[in-house]
Amino acid sequence: MLLKGKTIVITGSGRGIGKSVAIACAKEGANVGLTARTLDELNEVKDEIINLGTGVRVSVKTSDVTKYEEIENAFKVFHEDLGEINGVIANAGYSRMWNSHEFDSNKFSEIMTINVSGVFFAFKAAYPYLKKDDKNNKSRFIITGSAAYTSPMPKLAAYTASKFAVVGLQNALALEYKKENINFNMVLPTQVDTRMLRGRKAGDGNKPPNVLNAQELNDYYLFLLSDKANKTDNALIFTNDFGEIRNLLSKAPPVKRENWEVFKPYLEENAPKIYSNVRKLGKLVEFIINTIE
Ligand SMILES: NC(=O)c1ccc[n+]([C@@H]2O[C@H](COP(=O)([O-])OP(=O)(O)OC[C@H]3O[C@@H](n4cnc5c(N)ncnc54)[C@H](OP(=O)(O)O)[C@@H]3O)[C@@H](O)[C@H]2O)c1
Repeated sequence: MLLKGKTIVITGSGRGIGKSVAIACAKEGANVGLTARTLDELNEVKDEIINLGTGVRVSVKTSDVTKYEEIENAFKVFHEDLGEINGVIANAGYSRMWNSHEFDSNKFSEIMTINVSGVFFAFKAAYPYLKKDDKNNKSRFIITGSAAYTSPMPKLAAYTASKFAVVGLQNALALEYKKENINFNMVLPTQVDTRMLRGRKAGDGNKPPNVLNAQELNDYYLFLLSDKANKTDNALIFTNDFGEIRNLLSKAPPVKRENWEVFKPYLEENAPKIYSNVRKLGKLVEFIINTIE
């Protein structure tokens, strides 16, 4: 089991990407802390995890990431229930699509507060309880970003601005806390079949083919939380790049997909742009190669 004995807290874990990752972490042996605003959804995730029968511990505490006292209290409860924290996934997020010149000003602030301040508040609240000063077993702070960073979209100005901002936040935190052996990384998905993208139609089985299932993201988070990523810091994992890599791996001759070392020149030759994006993420490519086989 990849995360046996570790404690991982996931914000926005009542549904969507956060729920999927929380269940994946529990399957890999992690104790998990779940938080969002809707208690019923969190309890459903808790029940699913308990029913896995892996024996992991689950702590549930509602919080609104925009209210510092609430998220601070949630981390206090997670620490009391689960002990020292090895990893946090700052995943809670919100979006609204509208013409920018007509966009409600308060909505703009709300999106920025959830998607940017909420990530900062989660870090600040987690900090006292994060494992520190162990260079062989660094703690992890992972942000769910978005492919809107680098590929902005019209009518999503607030969301796009917020997802650019969290990249800056990560860069600054990674520099500041390097000496305490806390790694910061981001997963930047394209479109995912969740309520944020498809409203109540999420999960109805009719998603467009280019839209990912939330479960397709699990590997990126699991890798970043695992011992394999002890030296991965300040990385941006674009799910699109890894989708292309999976495609290429499915077509590559077996001898070219045995491991990263042999796949690397094949990737460079066949997809030079993707190679240049991921060339420092060889351990993740290797991880994907091993999960495919
Ligand atoms: N779906 C996509 O296409 C897509 C693409 C790229 C990136 N992302 C990112 O993925 C992350 C997860 O989104 P999702 O797609 O899984 O959406 P989702 O299904 O709507 O889930 C969002 C989660 O965040 C929680 N949340 C929202 N506002 C909150 C607040 N103020 N305080 C605490 N929790 C809050 C929600 O629970 P409550 O409402 O109960 O609080 C829910 O558990 C977001 O950061 C999003 O920007 C999504």
